[in-house]
This record gives sequence, C-alpha cells and structure tokens, in this order.
Amino acid sequence: MQKFTAYIPTKLHFGHHAAQDLGDHAAEIGDHALLVYGCGSAFRNGSYADTVERLQRCEVKVTEYGGIKPNPCVDDVDKAARLGREQGVDMIVAVGGGSVLDSAKVMAICIADGCDPWEVMVRNHLPQGAVPILAVLTLAATGTEMNPAAVIQNPRTKQKLGFRHELMYPAHSYLDPSYTLSVPRNYTAYGVVDLVCHCLEAWFGAGEATLSDRFTTAIIQEAIAYGPALMADMTNFDLRSKIMWAATNALNNMTIYGRSSPDWGVHILAHTLSVLYDTAHGATLSIIYPAWLKVMRDRARDRIVELGEALFQTADVDTTIRCLEDFFAQLGGPIRCQDVGIDLPCKQDILDLMNKNQAQGFNYTLSTAEREAILDQTFAEKRSLVAPV
Ligand code: NZQ
Ligand code: ZN
Repeated sequence: MQKFTAYIPTKLHFGHHAAQDLGDHAAEIGDHALLVYGCGSAFRNGSYADTVERLQRCEVKVTEYGGIKPNPCVDDVDKAARLGREQGVDMIVAVGGGSVLDSAKVMAICIADGCDPWEVMVRNHLPQGAVPILAVLTLAATGTEMNPAAVIQNPRTKQKLGFRHELMYPAHSYLDPSYTLSVPRNYTAYGVVDLVCHCLEAWFGAGEATLSDRFTTAIIQEAIAYGPALMADMTNFDLRSKIMWAATNALNNMTIYGRSSPDWGVHILAHTLSVLYDTAHGATLSIIYPAWLKVMRDRARDRIVELGEALFQTADVDTTIRCLEDFFAQLGGPIRCQDVGIDLPCKQDILDLMNKNQAQGFNYTLSTAEREAILDQTFAEKRSLVAPV
C-alpha cells in the first residue's frame, strides 16, 4: 500500500427531502448565491423551485445562470463566473448533474481568483481560493458530489480535461433520490455504466490496496444487482437510492486509497468522442471500456482474472470481458461507435485526436498501435449476448 491522506470535507445529506436545510446552510455562508443549472430538467423535477424557495425563505439573494449543457463548455463557466463576480456572490448553488456541478467547481475558483477557467483546467493558474459550493444533485453517475474533480470541454482546443483541487469539494451536497426519478432511460443507464467504469479505472490503477479492491468490487456488485432492476422500474425510489449512493462511492476516493493512482486511460480515450461528436459521457465509456479490455487482455491479464473471480465466478479473461460488455448492453449502453451514429469513416479523425492528445492511462500507457486496435474494437461487428449476468 502507498501512503495517503484521507480527506473528504463535503457534508453529504442523503435521502428524501435531503435538501430541506439548504437555505439555512446557505445563510450560514453568506447572503448572495449564484444559482447554476442546466437546460431545463431542474424546472421539471422540482429541484429548481425547491431550491429557490429555500434560499428565499432564508433571505439569500439569488443571481441565476442557466443553460449549462451536457459535456459542459468552458465558455459557460467563464460567463457565469464573470456574472458571479460582477454581482458579488459569496457562494454557488449548483442544481443538476455532473455537468452543472463540474462547471460550478471551476466557477468557484474563477469567482474567488478572477482567473480564466481554461487556465485553471490546463494548470497554468494555481487556485488560491474558491467560493463555497452547495450542490443539489439530480443525476446519479459521476461522483462529483463528493470529490474535488471537474471535467470541462474546450471546443477551440478540442480537449476535454479533468482537474482536481481540494478547494473544489462541495461544502454541502444534497442527494435526494426523488429528484432522479425523472432521469430518462438513456442517462439512467449511462449513470450505472459511469459508476462501474469509475470502479474499473481504480481497479486497473497502479499499486495494490486490498481493502480498496474489496470496496471496488462491492460497488460493482451493487450496480449489477440493482442497475438492471432500476432499468425495469425507473420510478422506484429505493432502487434510485441504491444506485445514487453507489455512484457517490465509486468516485469519492474510497476505491483508491492505498494505490498510487487510478488508470483513467479509458476515460481519457472516451473524452475524444465527447469532444468530436458531443457523445454523452456514459455512452463513450460503454463503447470504449470493453474495447480497451480486449486489447489489454494480455497486459492486464492478472487483474482481469481477479476481477472475473470476484464478480462473475470465472477465471477466464474473455468470459469476464464478455460479461462486462453484456452488462453494459443489457442496461441499454451503446457498445459500438455505430450505436451512437459514429461510423467507420470517422475512425481516422478519432485516432488522430487520440494520438495528438497522447490519450492513455497513468498505469497502462498506450502505443499508437494499441490506440488503433482499441478503436478497431469499437467498430467491430457485434456478437449476440451470450452471458447474461
Ligand atoms: O441539462 P438538463 O436539462 O439539466 O438535463 C440533463 C442533461 O440533459 C439531464 N438531467 C439531469 N438531471 C435530470 C436530468 N433529466 C431528467 N431528470 C433529472 N433529474 O441529464 C442530461 C445529462 O446531464 P449531465 O450533467 O451531463 O450528466 P452526468 O451527471 O452524467 O455528468 C456528465 C459530465 O460529468 C463529467 C463527464 O465527463 C460529463 O462531462 N464527469 C465528471 C466527473 C467528476 N467530476 O468527478 C467524473 C466523471 O468520470 C465524468 O468525467
Ligand atoms: Zn466517468
């Protein structure tokens, strides 16, 4: 095991009406909030109205910035942060999924430091401060509610980058599963895929940490046990709760303590599809993770065997890869580029950008030939599902 410092300062409130004290928490912090949200779902699922009512009841002034899109764009972060600075806000209240929360995390630094958001993402600006963030999560997937990471796209540089900093932990996160009852089928499936892939990125990371391994496989088992059940019963509060908590734990550090680093290679490769085709994050992962495993079957053999033994009671590498691919497909995740309308003529553009950005993991570096082999797998003909889990 490597040495580590365990630190998760976020106060996380979970369950029905979890955000009822949001106004009081905000009033303890300041008196003017920048309220940030996405493209309309918060109006429909009640989270926007509840949040505004709670802030107003506690006499917290609200300035709004709506319209953060999935695969969030750095320009929105910049505009919202400028607005927040002009208006003199002293906190951000973010209502939405990972795209809204991630945007809010970078805004929080830009409001405090008066800096350019892309300079933060490319590590040219070292954060000095951040206004506190209160996060009302409406989609179970990314784990951003209890971690210090943000992932933002820049259409000009054709990059989607992740950045982590201690100052970006939300002060409070509110996880009321009832807000997630309205998440549509596709994004519900992508959320389960995403949480499983966060576990896999930790699993294939560098170093050994047996307790983290056990947490990791327990979280994947939770997803296997309840993900398909949720897809069959989308308004089941209990199933939404289980998946929401699993997603938080898949990326709140508990799966990586003791390791030197997660791999992140599949995420980094997958971001290429989001940048080029605006493909949803979870969809990029259900396409690329099985492909990565097929190409890494010899290099990562021991870890794939251990994973198969823990999850699928098999020591056979190919069976394990098939079980994971089938699990993603049964949830409704795409498993080939063609499933999301990306056809073979796009292959060279994708490969060029992957190579330009040197897309690879921290543990498993990739050669140009391996990147191409992975991409070939994402366009390969599909077989029928043979190993239901
Ligand atoms: O924009 P609105 O109208 O709000 O609609 C959103 C969006 O269309 C909708 N939605 C959210 N809550 C809903 C809902 N629809 C109905 N009912 C609800 N309750 O869902 C769509 C997707 O939202 P988004 O926030 O983009 O999804 P997600 O939470 O999956 O976030 C994805 C982003 O997070 C990044 C991804 O790269 C991607 O940009 N990630 C962040 C990480 C982190 N900070 O730790 C790690 C992840 O690996 C990931 O990279
Ligand atoms: Zn992810």
